[in-house]
Amino acid sequence: MSLFRKKSLESIMAQAADSEKGLKRTLGAGNLIALGIGAIIGAGLFVRTAAAAGQAAGPGVTLSFILAAVGCAFAGLCYAEFAAMIPISGSAYAYSYVTMGELVAWIIGWALIMEYALGAATVSIAWSEYLNRLMGGAIPYEWCHSPFESFTDTAGVLHSGIINAPALIILLLVTLLLIKGSQESAFVNAIIVFIKVAIVLIFIAVGWQFIKPENHTPYLIPEGTAAVKDAAGKVIADYSGWNKHGWGGVLGGAAIVFFAFIGFDAVSTAAQEAKNPKRDMPIGILGSLAVCTVLYILFGHVLTGVANWKDFVDPEKGREASVAYAISAYMTGYGWLAKAVTVAILAGFSSVILVMLMGQSRVFYSMSNDGLIPKIFSDLHPKFKTPYKSNWLLFLFVGGFAAFVPGHVAGDLTSFGTLFAFVLVSIGIWILRKKSPNMERPFKTPVYQVVCALGAIICTAMIIGLDRQTLIAAFVWMAIGLVVYFAYSKKSSKLHK
Ligand code: ALA
Repeated sequence: MSLFRKKSLESIMAQAADSEKGLKRTLGAGNLIALGIGAIIGAGLFVRTAAAAGQAAGPGVTLSFILAAVGCAFAGLCYAEFAAMIPISGSAYAYSYVTMGELVAWIIGWALIMEYALGAATVSIAWSEYLNRLMGGAIPYEWCHSPFESFTDTAGVLHSGIINAPALIILLLVTLLLIKGSQESAFVNAIIVFIKVAIVLIFIAVGWQFIKPENHTPYLIPEGTAAVKDAAGKVIADYSGWNKHGWGGVLGGAAIVFFAFIGFDAVSTAAQEAKNPKRDMPIGILGSLAVCTVLYILFGHVLTGVANWKDFVDPEKGREASVAYAISAYMTGYGWLAKAVTVAILAGFSSVILVMLMGQSRVFYSMSNDGLIPKIFSDLHPKFKTPYKSNWLLFLFVGGFAAFVPGHVAGDLTSFGTLFAFVLVSIGIWILRKKSPNMERPFKTPVYQVVCALGAIICTAMIIGLDRQTLIAAFVWMAIGLVVYFAYSKKSSKLHK
């Protein structure tokens, strides 16, 4: 059955060991944790925390964070086991190639494009929005929106987008940095991580003194809470659904803030550049997840303590720039912190873009080495040893998306691609434990049957919870992937040859 032909572990290990020809091993444990935090803290924390509190969980958003973190921890343990055992750059794609065969590997590689490439595009569009906000709206509408967007100003003039230029510019800057080298990229990432973590910590420490206990009572949104309407009478938040109040709301909130955890798995795409992957991969993956979980819970606690969760759905109050709003409205004397948060958000978005683009080029690198996509994706720069041609092609693809497509289109697809990879990685660990029980495992997840089963079940449940439109778009994307596989990749695969 050639569709399920598998790569042998030996050949994959030989490929990883062949560091002479391949990517340079320059990253230590600290770099890897920073890489994880770089990818994790972004729009999810700064934008979705308030959305989850306002629309589903109330102050119980802290519990939503815990729930989403538990789901991620199962997948994280499986990623850690794989990444230490098979330290090559393809992440979930490479693991599936060994355990479930070529077709499944192809499917997951194709799904990862949704996570990494579309993820980078989405965040670059959000970056453009925040830059404009920081500049007081100085960028003309036409130059920071896609041609599919338009709005009529107060004078009745219709503005149509032409191109999202700031999104293109940040993508270009990040691409140039990635081509320069992994170590340079890791260095810039570390600076950004320092800035954003510092501002999150300052917000937690300062905000703690402004917490009003009454904002935390009741802790969950009570059943029967009236819907919130805008000035025109349109409902903007309805609490009647099972997942919009009480404990169900905590679950609904978890689905919203799941986005905030996306990125820890990107650490595994750097396995081939880690100095000591056997030890440092588990540290990088689980360490970054742990640090962010603690920060998120504290952040959610302070944010919903400073401002009442109802503010975050009130169109007159903190519906948009929730964190900056909470500071300006309730933390007297800390106006500078509101500005600093916007800077942290911009910095945060930049590092998310950086790690996502890096992850995507590394997955392509692996797929290209296996012959499933053209060789151009694995050509390394003669001096910098980075897949520079792949970085440029990716810039064109992601840039085209960011410049001409509205932001909301890609956001949930990112969650789909990620969850899909989590499911397959969880199943893959189980398969490999059964198939190759004696293989050297530098890191072993405890009670793997429980971890793998819960990892796969929780992530599948979250996929089912995505809206219909997202599922249809994902299905179409996967169908295109199958056409490409049968028309090109199956024949060009090195295993075929
Ligand atoms: N976790 C990343 C973010 O929140 C994707 O922006």
